[in-house]
Amino acid sequence: MSIEQLAETAQAMVAPGKGIIAIDESTGTIGKRFASVGLENTEENRRAYREMLLTTPKLNEHISGAILYDETIRQSTKDGVPFAKYMADNGIIPGIKVDKGAHALAGCPGELVTEGLDGLRERLQEYYKLGARFAKWRAVINIGESIPSGTCIESNAHALARYAALCQECGLVPMVEPEVIMDGDHDIETCYEVTEATLRSLFDALYQQNVLLEGTILKASMVISGKGCEEQADVEEVAESTVMCLKSTVPAILPGVVFLSGGQTDEQSTAHLDAMNQMGNLPWPLSFSYGRAMQQAALKLWAKDTKANIAKAQQTVFDRAKENGQAALGKWNG
Ligand code: 13P
Repeated sequence: MSIEQLAETAQAMVAPGKGIIAIDESTGTIGKRFASVGLENTEENRRAYREMLLTTPKLNEHISGAILYDETIRQSTKDGVPFAKYMADNGIIPGIKVDKGAHALAGCPGELVTEGLDGLRERLQEYYKLGARFAKWRAVINIGESIPSGTCIESNAHALARYAALCQECGLVPMVEPEVIMDGDHDIETCYEVTEATLRSLFDALYQQNVLLEGTILKASMVISGKGCEEQADVEEVAESTVMCLKSTVPAILPGVVFLSGGQTDEQSTAHLDAMNQMGNLPWPLSFSYGRAMQQAALKLWAKDTKANIAKAQQTVFDRAKENGQAALGKWNG
């Protein structure tokens, strides 16, 4: 796989006005989302739900790619077309979550490290054959009293870099995701400091492991007040802090940065992205790779009647994609 091909895929992922829909919830996580709307967590419900999302008419007008879970990339539409083929035929790049989740980091109480490196080369080779062209790995950085530790930040950065190098060897664009978690009563300045240290450590590790940045996408969390913080920063402050933090840590050669929604409301996630792009003068495209902020409204509708409400739920998915696509251009009319 040449760097030109990786770069081409990475650029297509952040094409102007387009972003990613993250539908890579593990079976446990989708179970929680289903439970919140009274749906049973069966394999057929998971398949039917993902089919509803992926077959949204004209989705590719605002969506460049979708991140799937291991089970999903092996599933098909009810007419028997594998999801990855359906996506490729409809102008959506198939992506895959390849980490094996965040686990307790020994020696660092309250902190997590993402696992999944053992056997990863073989898994990536299989996912490539199944049609995936990019892969995501999520590290979790919690903010609390005396955390995160340097050990946590560095351990996660090292794992992200090892995974990213393996991805590129196997022809997949790594979407590196160090998520600084919004839970907690910390202020936005603390989030800024932690995000800055996390991104510095990540790009240092990527350099150490010979990862080619031209063929890499960053999935970042925004610099934002903790959910429990009394003083909530407004849209402008979140946008300015996030852009400043990224400018001071992320090399300009990176093809693009996409954001996770991380528990923000639909409107907040769109408003923040729009405000950042309105600032202009950015070294990279800033777009979205939202999970909850792309899906939650559609899931609620679909759960009420999983057959009769398909078209309505798909319209909601399309509308959220359109709004976020406009925000990726700084042209959202909120
Ligand atoms: P949220 O947008 O719901 O945070 O999910 C994005 C994601 O892929 C987290 O890994």
